[in-house]
Amino acid sequence: MNDTILVTGGAGFIGSNFLLQWIDHERSSILNLDKLTYAGNLHNLEPIAHSPRYRFIQGDIADRTLVQSVLRDHQPRAIVHFAAESHVDRSIHGPEEFIRTNVGGTFALLEEARSYWSELGQRQSDFRFLHVSTDEVYGSLGPSDPAFHEHTPYAPNSPYSASKAAADHLVRAYHHTYALPTLTTNCSNNYGPFQFPEKLIPLMILNARAGKPLPVYGDGQNVRDWLYVGDHCDAIRAVLANGIPGETYNVGGWNEKKNLEIVESVCSLLDEFSPNDPVVPHRQLISFVKDRPGHDRRYAIDARKIERELHWRPRETFETGIRKTIRWYLDHEDWVREVTSGDYRKWIATQYSN
Ligand code: NAD
Ligand code: DAU
Repeated sequence: MNDTILVTGGAGFIGSNFLLQWIDHERSSILNLDKLTYAGNLHNLEPIAHSPRYRFIQGDIADRTLVQSVLRDHQPRAIVHFAAESHVDRSIHGPEEFIRTNVGGTFALLEEARSYWSELGQRQSDFRFLHVSTDEVYGSLGPSDPAFHEHTPYAPNSPYSASKAAADHLVRAYHHTYALPTLTTNCSNNYGPFQFPEKLIPLMILNARAGKPLPVYGDGQNVRDWLYVGDHCDAIRAVLANGIPGETYNVGGWNEKKNLEIVESVCSLLDEFSPNDPVVPHRQLISFVKDRPGHDRRYAIDARKIERELHWRPRETFETGIRKTIRWYLDHEDWVREVTSGDYRKWIATQYSN
């Protein structure tokens, strides 16, 4: 075993931010295994593409032969598992890929990790399998329910969250049954650079700039707990370094906001940053549309465990994080142009057709 970390899904939104942060803050090497679905983009990783501490392998986590040879050839000391189908609306249109990657892919990784780890001898206790999961596994909260904590019972409501819950249960079982040194993080909604513009914040930024309607589902009163992506990446590094095998850690920003508030903040900041857009004030573009089927009303994370035990805290407030994010999208028009061509247009046409 050497000092390399194997990251799955490192070309996606959070994975890219994690890899860029890792090369900046850590000394060890990193290997990125990514299938490059519509959500994976190697341009995100251009700043580290030529680093001697970074390597990319294109492949599917569900391909056990490939995973086996990657583990055997590179002997990593940890796996940080981001790869997933991640968009709730897509899981409603087509759940199968979510089961294949999120459940089957995680199972394949766990099996190959277990086999690799079982041969590590005395170094077994140094190995870690860190599974990156979501707060959506806990289901939906009422307005005055306490925030999700690590022992809140699972109650996933969408095919996406059900597939992540299944993966979390498999990870738990591999620790309980085989003693594989696993760690799980359950994080709230992330936002920041490189987020694919099918998700709320980047979709609203791009539509608002183009003078297109801003589609708010239902009454816009659903609540999410928002965390800047760099803070999530810090939390994952803290859990990897000091988390206790078998434990799970909730990660969140103590920042509950209604969707409509989020869209209004994006509009106000764009009024300030981009006053010459076709429609200003941008809030005129807000348009209430048909609700998401099974739409969870409220998520909130109780992050006291990771704060107390691992001394992690978010650095960004929503106010600082959203400014950085909007600035990033304004400054990266080439990235936006590239990801919003082809299949992206088909997705938007299908999802927002009525
Ligand atoms: P994303 O959709 O932006 O990226 C997913 C990445 O995984 C892409 O690079 C894609 O190419 C890759 N991938 C997909 N299927 C694969 C497969 N079979 N084999 C190898 N690679 C594959 O996702 P994201 O928003 O960066 O989320 C990353 C992880 O974090 C996911 O596990 C997600 O459930 C979890 N998470 C996301 C959020 C959020 O707000 N985005 C919050 C909490 C947890
Ligand atoms: O909570 C963590 C989860 O956050 C992650 O596990 C998921 O991978 C990630 O996609 C995200 O899921 P959400 O469904 O909360 O994110 P999304 O950006 O799709 O939607 C955020 C909220 O905004 C949700 O209540 C639905 C609403 N929404 C979304 C879109 C795309 C709209 O009102 N209009 C839209 O067009």
